[in-house]
Amino acid sequence: MRTDKKTTTTCFLLVLTMLFGFMANAHAADLAAGKKVAKSSCKQCHAFVAGKNKIGPTLFGIIGRVAGTAEGYKFKPDMIAAGKKGLVWDKETFSKYMVMSNNKRKKYIGSLIGKSKASLKMNAKKIKGKKLENLLGYLETLK
Ligand code: HEC
Repeated sequence: MRTDKKTTTTCFLLVLTMLFGFMANAHAADLAAGKKVAKSSCKQCHAFVAGKNKIGPTLFGIIGRVAGTAEGYKFKPDMIAAGKKGLVWDKETFSKYMVMSNNKRKKYIGSLIGKSKASLKMNAKKIKGKKLENLLGYLETLK
């Protein structure tokens, strides 16, 4: 009788572990897919290695970085101003920014610095849904 109870408990815990494992996996970003998104949608203007700036600043270490602070890159003054006002590219602000149109991005940055529209350089398509999730997952590994 005691062994049975033990076996039942063990089985129950095993199933729970598998279930949680599965759920965690279902939410994990697909890093390879994220890298592909980065290549197809961002690489044209951004590099992914430290210190390498192209038309845009390096995206190495972007998640967690204060806006407008990539070393050696000449940002638009409005982006630097947004950083000084406290804009940090974290999961939330980055995701919010990427789903916006360029026009909305200018309004958003503008709203942080007391302008109706900021003057910005980036002209890039919206990224959303699973693509954005995977891209974010990939960018988070670049540190
Ligand atoms: C056509 C060129 C171009 C493309 C494509 C592009 N960007 Fe940019 N990006 C820029 C430029 C230029 C800036 C600098 C913005 C400024 O100073 O106004 C920038 C800035 C940024 C910033 C703010 C950086 C900082 O340090 O404050 C982020 C975040 C960003 N880009 C993410 C992306 C992602 C992610 C993609 C791909 C989905 C992408 N960009 C595609 C040109 C581009």
